[in-house]
Amino acid sequence: MARDGGILVVDVGTTKICALIGEERDGKLWVTGMGVSPSQGLKKGTVINIEEATNSIKSAIDKAQGQAKVQPSLVFTSVAGSHIKIHSGMGVVALKEKVVTHEDIEEVLSSAQAVDISQDRVLLHVIPQEFVLDQTRGITQPLGMTGVRLEAHVQLITAQRSCVQNLLKCFEYLELEVDGIVFQGLASAEAVLSPEEKDLGVLLIDFGGGTSDIVVYREGVLRFASSIPVGGDLLTNDLAVCLKTSKNDAERLKLEEGVCLRELVEEGEIIEVPGIGNRPPRSIQKKILAEILEERVKELLALIDSEIKDIPKTYLTSGVVLTGGSALLPGLIYLCDQILDLPARIGFPERLPGLTEEIYHPQYATAVGMLIYAYQNYYQATEKPQKKRGILDMIRDLLKLKK
Ligand SMILES: Nc1ncnc2c1ncn2[C@@H]1O[C@H](COP(=O)(O)OP(=O)(O)OP(=O)(O)O)[C@@H](O)[C@H]1O
Ligand SMILES: [Mg+2]
Repeated sequence: MARDGGILVVDVGTTKICALIGEERDGKLWVTGMGVSPSQGLKKGTVINIEEATNSIKSAIDKAQGQAKVQPSLVFTSVAGSHIKIHSGMGVVALKEKVVTHEDIEEVLSSAQAVDISQDRVLLHVIPQEFVLDQTRGITQPLGMTGVRLEAHVQLITAQRSCVQNLLKCFEYLELEVDGIVFQGLASAEAVLSPEEKDLGVLLIDFGGGTSDIVVYREGVLRFASSIPVGGDLLTNDLAVCLKTSKNDAERLKLEEGVCLRELVEEGEIIEVPGIGNRPPRSIQKKILAEILEERVKELLALIDSEIKDIPKTYLTSGVVLTGGSALLPGLIYLCDQILDLPARIGFPERLPGLTEEIYHPQYATAVGMLIYAYQNYYQATEKPQKKRGILDMIRDLLKLKK
């Protein structure tokens, strides 16, 4: 049974907050409201000032609600940052009826979650990798199969409890009850990856402002997730420091003139760099700007390469998909090929009926993916009760903790 009301998703990014409202019309998900506000009170994906973050979130939600004019019946938000971790878990159940039922799957998945996760962490996602029924491995959907012993191997994505609580506090101040929290990398993957890419093996990089979220899919299943506290803001900072200009001017120069490959700049090209305060502007070779960006991007890609060092490159047949605002930096695709040894493409979010063209930009991939995720897993049906229980129970636990 579908639910009444809309779905409100709020992607709490380091650079911007994006709120989207989705509604079901004629059996399809429509985007009926969008609000974006500059992000305040966040650093490297984490809330550092609750009041400022709450105001930014409110501003984005107000804009989205002004367009959609529907009360949300589901509210989702997102999380990222270096506190995101992935762990392996395994659970076993004896099959009472000798046939796998929904209840058996729920039970085996919940026993797989009972790994030793410390008290300061909360579970965000339980991702089944494979089921083993008696001696048969590699089963993706065991429902209705015959056997006596069911084993589940899962990956668990967890977040630091205090980071999640601080994020939830912002929503509490706005008197909004949050139904689910999504890891931003996973949400972006929902919006930009094709089923073929997920099946053949792909690395997704959401290169945002404060974080770079990475996820790996293979055989249609998420296999790895991580969030590195480095994003486009660091590139802007580097430019400001090296070129001795303000952050605002550095950001403008990055967006207007930035490339992260020196070969893309013609010899002798000159740009003007404003001075700080009332110091006069200076003319510099555009190649210098490209060199600064190239060095930092190479460092980031080397960091990502070491994060995925245990994953053989042959496993990633579809290569890399780059999304997030910083994915648009010219030269990035070439550097991915050079450093990661993988072919890359830019990931734009899936087109949903409804709102304007504005939304089809890599920086909104997470928000669009959150809407798709919430709609498919929570709004539409109760076909996947194990997922629903996992995350909703976690949120309820968190809310209880606050009282
Ligand atoms: N055309 C562009 N070229 C290079 N960088 C860009 C471009 N457009 C946006 N950016 C950069 O993208 C970053 C913002 O991306 P995005 O909106 O995806 O971040 P965010 O979701 O707010 O942050 P995060 O997910 O890291 O917490 C900024 O650093 C901005 O400078
Ligand atoms: Mg983001």
